[in-house]
Amino acid sequence: MVDQSEKTAPLLHVKDLVTAFDTEGGQIKAVDGVSFSLQPGRTLGIVGESGCGKTVTALSIINLLPKPTADILEGEIWFEGEDLASAPIERLHDIRGERIGMIFQEPMTALNPVHRVGRQIMETLKLHRDISDADALRATISMLEKVGIPSPEVRVSEYPHQLSGGMRQRVMIAMALICDPSLVIADEPTTALDVTIQAQILELLQDMQNKLNTSVIMITHDLGVIAETCDDVLVMYAGRVAEQGSVDDVFNNPMHPYTQGLLSSIPRLNSPRKTKLPTIEGMVPSLTDMPTGCRFNNRCPYADELCVSSYPQLDGEDGFHQAACHHWRKIDAQLHSGTTS
Ligand SMILES: Nc1ncnc2c1ncn2[C@@H]1O[C@H](COP(=O)(O)OP(=O)(O)OP(=O)(O)O)[C@@H](O)[C@H]1O
Ligand SMILES: [Mg+2]
Repeated sequence: MVDQSEKTAPLLHVKDLVTAFDTEGGQIKAVDGVSFSLQPGRTLGIVGESGCGKTVTALSIINLLPKPTADILEGEIWFEGEDLASAPIERLHDIRGERIGMIFQEPMTALNPVHRVGRQIMETLKLHRDISDADALRATISMLEKVGIPSPEVRVSEYPHQLSGGMRQRVMIAMALICDPSLVIADEPTTALDVTIQAQILELLQDMQNKLNTSVIMITHDLGVIAETCDDVLVMYAGRVAEQGSVDDVFNNPMHPYTQGLLSSIPRLNSPRKTKLPTIEGMVPSLTDMPTGCRFNNRCPYADELCVSSYPQLDGEDGFHQAACHHWRKIDAQLHSGTTS
C-alpha cells in the first residue's frame, strides 16, 4: 500500500507474500499473495474475520511461524532495507525485540510465569544492548513508569500472576518498546481485556507511539479499534487483501462488498431500537476448499460469472484506496445513485 501523498520510503513493504501450512489434508495457503506498505510513524490496521490470515501475516514478518509445519513460500518482506523473507534466522533473532517489538493478545502466554516481570524486560534489553545490570534495571523501572505501572520499583520484582490482565498487557508494551523499535506489531492487544481497560491500553499505545514515532501494525477484528487508532487499513478476506486505503476513505466510501458488509454490521447509537443488524450471509470458505475466482463470490450479492472465473486484482481510482472486486465501479455508482440491485 503506497500512499501517493507520502514521498518517504516505506518502513515495511510486504510484496506478494504467500505463507502455507502443511496439514494432513495437504498444503493450505493461509496467506496467499498479500502486499502492503507501512510508512514511518503510521499505524496500519489489519482487520478481517477469524481465520483470514491476520496473525499468520504478522508471524511471517518476524518469522515466528510454527516450524516445521508453516513456511513462507513466496514473496518479499522489506524492512529497513533488508528482505526479512530471505534473511538468515540469526538476523531475525537480532531484529525481533530490537527493531520490531511484538504485543500479543494473551500476555500470560508471552510472559514467562516463573520469572519476575522486570527480569524479562531486562533480558530483552541485555540481549540487544551492551548494558550493565544496574543500568538495565534503571531503564526497566523507567519504562514501567512510562507505561503507567504504579510503584514500578516494587512491581519490577513481581511475577506475572501477581499483576492484573491490564497490568500484564502494560508489561508486554514495556517489553515491546524497551529497545526503541521502529515497528511494533500488536496482535489483538486488547481483546482479552474488559472495555475500560481496553480503552486505556489503546490510549497508552497511541501515546507511546507519538512520543517514540514508532510505526504500528494493529491486528484486530474490531472495526471500532481500527477507527480509533489507525491511519490506514488492510481488510483481509480468506488469506487475501479485499480492500486497502486510509481509514477515512475505507470507512466513508468502502469499495468492496465485504467491507461494506462489515461496516453495516456495526451497531450504531442512532439505529432504531430492536432493529436487526444486517449480517453478511454465508460462511468464509475453507482454505482446503477455496472457490475459484473471487473468494467472496459465494457470499456476494453482486457476484456473476466473471467473479467465479477470475480473481480480481486490487484496483481503484488512486494507487492507495483499492479493492479486489471486479465490479467496484458499478457498485460505487449504484450506491451513490441510491440503488443496490
Ligand atoms: N498451526 C496451524 N496449522 C494449520 N493451519 C493453521 C495453523 N495456524 C493457523 N492456521 C490456519 O491459517 C489460517 C489463518 O490463521 P490466522 O491465525 O492467521 O487467522 P486470524 O485472521 O489471525 O484469525 P483470528 O481472528 O481468529 O485470530 C486459518 O484458516 C487457520 O486455520
Ligand atoms: Mg489471529
